[in-house]
Amino acid sequence: MDKFLVNKSMNLKGKVRVSGAKNAALPILAASILAGDEVILEDVPRLRDIEIMEDILTTLGADFEFIEENKLRIDTSRVENKDIGYELTSQMRASTLIMGPLLARFGNAKISLPGGCTIGTRPIDLHLKGFRALGVDCDVHNGYIEAHSEGLVGQKIYLDFPSVGATENIIMAATLAEGETILDNAAMEPEIVDLSNFLNKMGADVKGAGTPTIRIKGVEKLGKASHQIIPDRIEAGTFMVAAAMTDGDIELENIITSHIKPVIAKLKEMGATVEENGSHIRVKGTSEPKATDIKTMPHPGFPTDMQAQFMAFMNIIDGTSVVIETIFENRFRIVDEFKRMGADIKIDGRTAIVQGVEELTGSEVKATDLRAGAALILAGLVAEGETIVDDIYHIDRGYENIEEKFKALGANIKRVSV
Ligand code: EPZ
Repeated sequence: MDKFLVNKSMNLKGKVRVSGAKNAALPILAASILAGDEVILEDVPRLRDIEIMEDILTTLGADFEFIEENKLRIDTSRVENKDIGYELTSQMRASTLIMGPLLARFGNAKISLPGGCTIGTRPIDLHLKGFRALGVDCDVHNGYIEAHSEGLVGQKIYLDFPSVGATENIIMAATLAEGETILDNAAMEPEIVDLSNFLNKMGADVKGAGTPTIRIKGVEKLGKASHQIIPDRIEAGTFMVAAAMTDGDIELENIITSHIKPVIAKLKEMGATVEENGSHIRVKGTSEPKATDIKTMPHPGFPTDMQAQFMAFMNIIDGTSVVIETIFENRFRIVDEFKRMGADIKIDGRTAIVQGVEELTGSEVKATDLRAGAALILAGLVAEGETIVDDIYHIDRGYENIEEKFKALGANIKRVSV
């Protein structure tokens, strides 16, 4: 099992290029099933989650080949409809995103229920509600979802919650349905806009992505396309917090600043300097950061995937900071790990009250999920003494070359295999 050894590294400095977004690449890889032809994708991050999606697509019969480090060629002309078992879906919840494309292309799908994960039960009731509205019979038997239809028909669908995955799955299912689908209270994340742009390049007719109402007009067929994945706003935010909390000066390349407005606003509130310059952002820290509060919300609100990273920073800011997590029911597991490092945090339901402490002390901690793992690295960068971060396979799921990128900024971080 790999671990990260992290030692105090103040004043991080230098440049880092942000990788393509994992949460855009995953639905777009699933959508390649709809092409029934070759697609070329650029800026695909080399991550464990992408490898799992590769296993799923090759199991279905796709040709999947990285022709350059981050340039991927997929040919789904020989894809057949097969059951996807628990050994694949249990590794990654996003495996459910192949349901929409399989239903659109073949009219039915059978995949194992992915199960929950450490941040919550992660139900897919809204995905199934959307499929049923499109005329799909969905039943759960022996841990599998069995979905059958005689052909999907467009429908008006209201999402009780703007679920990212449900929005993506329903859009993909509706692309080849008969007639028009109107999806209301849809999620507005930038990754949904990227998926919609890719689908339209393949010949789909999707309008309104990025707004609460998305209209999908069914078409006869989709075909080949090429597309560049948008930058990863959460990876970018993670390095921006690293600059702020180490009182550093970091320039990020390959970024779309409109995707991370809440992160920029909060860092400025906390005293950091943020200079936006096209596809570059420069973040400088301050020696006297100010406590602030965050409340996670669906986009364009503050992203839940940045909550743990900001809590890492709040631990060392004089005063009281309040974190309210409204998206996932169990996304405070990192608090126990921060407490091992000397943090002073009290949890009351979905609210965490963080009292700043003079300093954190390095200790052995465990990554409880992908973003918590990144947050523990950040805490290790400011702690006195060595921090050993365990279970870093979580981090490798969503951050490409994270230790190389941090080392290039002057961080004292080392991966060890034990
Ligand atoms: C996506 O997960 C992201 N993953 C998550 O990123 C992200 O945290 C989340 O959106 C919220 O922004 C990918 O895009 C691969 P949701 P998703 O459906 O689609 C409830 C990371 O770190 N819900 O918007 O699963 C659900 O329980 C990961 O990269 C239902 O109740 O998120 C949760 O409380 C972590 N029924 C809330 O909605 C459903 O049918 C948000 O879930 C679906 C969701």
